[in-house]
Amino acid sequence: MLNNRKAELEFSSGLRWTHWIRVFAITALTVTGFYIAYVFVAPTPSATPTLFLNAKFRMWHEAIGFVLIAVTLYKTYLFIFVKSSKVERVSIHDVLSPKVWIAQIKYYLFLGEHPKLKGAYNPLQFLAYVLLYIMVYMISITGLILYARSYHNGLGGFLLPYMKPLEALMGGLASVREIHHIVMWVILIFVPIHIYMAVFNSIVSKEGSIDAVISGYKFEKNEA
Ligand code: HEM
Repeated sequence: MLNNRKAELEFSSGLRWTHWIRVFAITALTVTGFYIAYVFVAPTPSATPTLFLNAKFRMWHEAIGFVLIAVTLYKTYLFIFVKSSKVERVSIHDVLSPKVWIAQIKYYLFLGEHPKLKGAYNPLQFLAYVLLYIMVYMISITGLILYARSYHNGLGGFLLPYMKPLEALMGGLASVREIHHIVMWVILIFVPIHIYMAVFNSIVSKEGSIDAVISGYKFEKNEA
């Protein structure tokens, strides 16, 4: 089956690790975030008031929130500065080409072949990822505002003077919480579309795009 195809390295191990760490972080943050928004479980009542279930959910939400922030900063650094991410940066050329846009839409409508791309991502995919990054930065900043408001020592104390003006800009703490929650829903809408597109591409192109985010390799057709 794969005789007329060659394995090409698509994603470095750094890109693959950060992808799966984010899958874990977004899943855990969504579960713990839904709990903070609407407390859906309660501990078995006990005479000793030391159960602190709410505090534990909040603690895990914040700890994993910092993991998401670290991974996002690292990914942003890789994208901008690292040589092996050139294939990602070059995608900007494809985004600026109307010809590639038309061919890509035709491909999704089963009306044509996949266009030959200069970079790793097609234009629709690239714009979807830009939107995702904007959302992840938004949820991280609003998360840090909420964090700094309740932890006044250490990092919280350090961040508070920087977060206060942003909080005012967003219309106060209640709005910050609302924005944080709404942005979660934008991310939750992105996730199934992203999975559908990845599976679609993997099946239709037969290039094993899903394999690429696990092993790093996809299987391109031999030109000869
Ligand atoms: C995909 C990422 C994230 C999701 C889906 C998410 C989701 C949520 C949700 C739904 C809430 C409840 C808001 C409400 O009351 O309606 C919440 C609260 C909170 N989030 Fe996040 N969050 C994420 C990332 C972060 C990050 C990066 C931080 C930064 C540390 C953070 C810190 C907080 C804090 C401190 C609260 C508590 C608000 C309160 O107690 O009133 N979150 N989050």
